[in-house]
Amino acid sequence: MKITVVGTGYVGLVTGTCFAETGNNVTCVDIDAGKVAKLAAGQITIYEPGLEKLFERNLKEGRLQFTTQLKEGVSDADVIFLALPTPPGEDGSADLSYILKVADQLGYILEDYKVIVDKSTVPVGTADKVREAIARNAKVEFDVVSNPEFLREGVAVEDFMKPDRVVIGTSSEKARKVMGELYAPYVRQGNPVIFMDEKSAELTKYAANSFLATKISFMNEIAILCERLGADVDMVRRGIGSDDRIGKRFLFPGIGYGGSCFPKDVQALVKSSQDADYDFRILNAVMDVNEQQKVFLLPKIEAYFDNDLKGKHFALWGLAFKPNTDDIREAPALYIIDRLLAAGASVSAFDPEAMSNVKQLIGDRIRYVDHQYEALENADALIIATEWSVFRTPDFDKIRTHLKDQVIFDGRNLFDVPRMQELGFHYESVGRQA
Ligand code: UGA
Repeated sequence: MKITVVGTGYVGLVTGTCFAETGNNVTCVDIDAGKVAKLAAGQITIYEPGLEKLFERNLKEGRLQFTTQLKEGVSDADVIFLALPTPPGEDGSADLSYILKVADQLGYILEDYKVIVDKSTVPVGTADKVREAIARNAKVEFDVVSNPEFLREGVAVEDFMKPDRVVIGTSSEKARKVMGELYAPYVRQGNPVIFMDEKSAELTKYAANSFLATKISFMNEIAILCERLGADVDMVRRGIGSDDRIGKRFLFPGIGYGGSCFPKDVQALVKSSQDADYDFRILNAVMDVNEQQKVFLLPKIEAYFDNDLKGKHFALWGLAFKPNTDDIREAPALYIIDRLLAAGASVSAFDPEAMSNVKQLIGDRIRYVDHQYEALENADALIIATEWSVFRTPDFDKIRTHLKDQVIFDGRNLFDVPRMQELGFHYESVGRQA
């Protein structure tokens, strides 16, 4: 099939590359000429494990093209995916201006039947708005489909190539057939393609992310309770997770959810609810808990240093909001840094991928080091904010010799508590007894 993907951000680039991988001919369109030139020259613009190989192969084999010209980019397409940003507006609702602008242009451009697909996370009713915007000027038949993506950063290629499910919202038989054929190679193991109406598909995406965020905030509150009552959240997690109805995944407490999706989507669903005259009470609490959780380690750190962090120096392992990404949007580490600096402390940080993004954002307010152990030099304590694999089995002797004081605050529960005690560390984590 001939596919066009408008928008070469994270979702667009993964979608385009993975569609090319099963033999489709894919054209990616973006207004950013610099980005298009880079991509066309074989330079990938995002960090995503496994993507580069696929990108290079499909580019070389001519199944992946890049252009800044929307008209030229869509002329041959059977299906046009809109993978455009929907940043939160001031009131928390998703800003649809990028999508609606392209929809408006498509109205003038289309010369034959196309299936136009909303891939971005968009509020309920957006497919109708896109349809209206195109119809204003369109002289040909077209269908608008809602096909939310459920990719996780860091494992996006795997999620795309073998999705748990594909959700397709359309009321058109013709579009349904096209979309079913397009996704058939990805669901060969029998995972479902779930067809539904456009609005239900749009809401499915928000409901999924909001439910997962709820699971995390719930576990973070259970962790707080564990500390106060003398229980161990690892045990409670295992105890409840083996019930199929609850499930083992997404029950890990930590220092809050971050990234570009959960915070934005939970907020947007709360806003949509308000617009529909409904107060979504659970989600308000989920957001509240998460705000508090991002700085969960601070009171522990302050208590250890008798509420005086002035002149203290901290080693920080992990800046990205989660491992295997360089994404620092809503990363808990940034909130921790802010609080430490405000209290008069200094920070040396290491992250395998995200340091240049942090440097771009906050400059030299902290020191960046090339190796995780270098961060420990002269540090009063080590703080762990992201569970990168390289932090999981560190050389504890090296930690001991480099750290000034044998103190570790672990926001991701990487180590065994008794083992850390045996090794002589003062070790504090989330929801377990120190
Ligand atoms: C999330 C969803 O998982 C994807 O299905 C969805 O497609 C995507 O948002 C999106 O809307 O585009 P992502 O933001 O990449 O994906 O990251 P996750 O792996 O889901 O992690 C989200 C946050 O939850 C991270 O900050 C992570 O540290 C936190 N988390 C996750 C926990 O605190 N505990 C857990 O048990 C799991």
